[in-house]
Amino acid sequence: MNILLIGSGGREHALAWKIGQSPLVETLFCAPGNGGIETIASCVDLDATDHDAVIDFCRKQKVGLVVVGPEAPLVDGIADALNAAGIPVFGPSAAAAQLEGSKGFTKDMCARYNIPTAAYGRFSDPDSAKQYIAECGTPIVVKADGLAAGKGVIIAATIPEANDAVDMMFDGGFGEAGGEVVVEEFMVGEEASFFALADGKTTLPLATAQDHKAVGEGDTGPNTGGMGAYSPAPVMTEQMVDRVMAEIIEPTAAAMADMGCTYKGVLFAGLMITDTGPKLIEYNCRFGDPECQVLMMRMTCDIVPLLMATADGSLAAQTASWTEDTALAVVLAAKGYPGSYSKGSVIKNTDIAASDENVEIFHAGTKRENGNIIAVGGRVLNVTAQAPSVVEAKNLAYSAVSKIEWPDGFCRSDIGWRAINRS
Ligand code: AMP
Ligand code: GLY
Repeated sequence: MNILLIGSGGREHALAWKIGQSPLVETLFCAPGNGGIETIASCVDLDATDHDAVIDFCRKQKVGLVVVGPEAPLVDGIADALNAAGIPVFGPSAAAAQLEGSKGFTKDMCARYNIPTAAYGRFSDPDSAKQYIAECGTPIVVKADGLAAGKGVIIAATIPEANDAVDMMFDGGFGEAGGEVVVEEFMVGEEASFFALADGKTTLPLATAQDHKAVGEGDTGPNTGGMGAYSPAPVMTEQMVDRVMAEIIEPTAAAMADMGCTYKGVLFAGLMITDTGPKLIEYNCRFGDPECQVLMMRMTCDIVPLLMATADGSLAAQTASWTEDTALAVVLAAKGYPGSYSKGSVIKNTDIAASDENVEIFHAGTKRENGNIIAVGGRVLNVTAQAPSVVEAKNLAYSAVSKIEWPDGFCRSDIGWRAINRS
C-alpha cells in the first residue's frame, strides 16, 4: 500500500520512521516533509490546504491511506474532503476536530456528559468574563477559545492579572482564537498526557507521556511547543489508565457519536491527576509533538494496521504493544526560540550522535543542502533514546546530544526531572 503523510515536524519524522518499518508499505510519501523525513520517504510539494490537489495526488499515486500529523489541516476539513472522495484517512472530521479547535465546545461536552474537568464559564464579552472571575477568585485560568499554537492559556494569580488576560484576548492578543474566552477553575495535581485511538465504535488505549512545555530549566519561562518528553508517565499507573479510559475517553467517544460528530483518530488527552481522580485539561485531535517521538520509539507492533483500522472502523480486532523501557526525547531548538531566532546555520555530527541502536534523531525544522543539514525552524532536532529506566534513557539521550555540533542551538538539560525525582 502507498501512504501519504501530511506534516513537517518531529512528530511526522517519528511517524514516517515507524510507518516505513511496516512490511505493508510500498511507497511512503510525505508532504512537505523535512531534512530528516526525505531520507526515509518520498517528499512531495503538496499544499495541504488545497484539498483537490491532495485528492488528485492520492488518485494518481494510488494512495491507500492518508495520515494527517498536525491539527490545522484537520480543523480545516481535510479528512472530510478525503472521506468524500473515498480515500481512507487517519484523522477526525472538522466537526470532530472541534475537540481541539474550540475549548468551549469541549467544556460544554464535558458538562453535558459528566466528563470530569475544571469548572468553567464561556464568554463572548469581557464584562461577563470579569464578573465570573470576581465570583470565583484566584488562582484562575483564562483561555482563548480557538487554536493558539499552545500559547492561548494564562494562569492568573490575581484578579487584575486575570482581567488583563481577558482584555488582551478580546483585544486580539491571540488573533481570532480569542473571539471567545473560557475562564476555568485552577486544578492542582500532576499533569500527564494520554493517547487512545477511536474509530467511531471502539476505543483502544495507546500509551502515556509527559512533556516539558516551558523553555527554561525546572519548567520555567515562556511556553513552547514542547522542549522534551518521556514515556511512560509514572503517574499513570495501570489503575489510573483504566479510570481514564472509563471516565474520560470512552464517555468522550460516546458523546461525540451522540452529538453527531463521531470521532475517528487519535485522542490526545491532557490530564490533571488530582486528589479526587483524573480530570481533563484539554483534548488534542492529533499526536503530540514531541510526545509522538517517544511513543513511536516504544511501540513494538506494526503501526499501519492500527492506523488503517482507525480509518475503516475495525479497531476492535486490533491490539497495540509497547516495550516496558522508557523513551525520552530532548528537543534541540534554535537560540532565541520561542522568541525570534535566525535560520540557516549548519548542524554537524548527527550521524555520529545517532550511531547507538537505541538512539534516533527525529528532525523538525531542518532541510538538506549540498549534503549539509541546515536549521530552518524553531524546534530543530529531537534526540530520542530508549533504555530500561528513565535515568538511563536520559543519560543516553544527553550523551547523543553532546556529540552534535550546532553552536546556534540549545536544549534543556533537565528533561525527565520529575520522573527521575520520583524514582
Ligand atoms: P492547555 O493549552 O489547555 O493544555 O493549557 C496549557 C497548560 O496550562 C496545561 O498544560 C496546564 O499546565 C495549564 N492549565 C490549563 N488549564 C488548567 C487548569 N484548569 N488548572 C491548572 N492548570 C491548567
Ligand atoms: N507537546 C504538546 C503538543 O503537542 O500539543
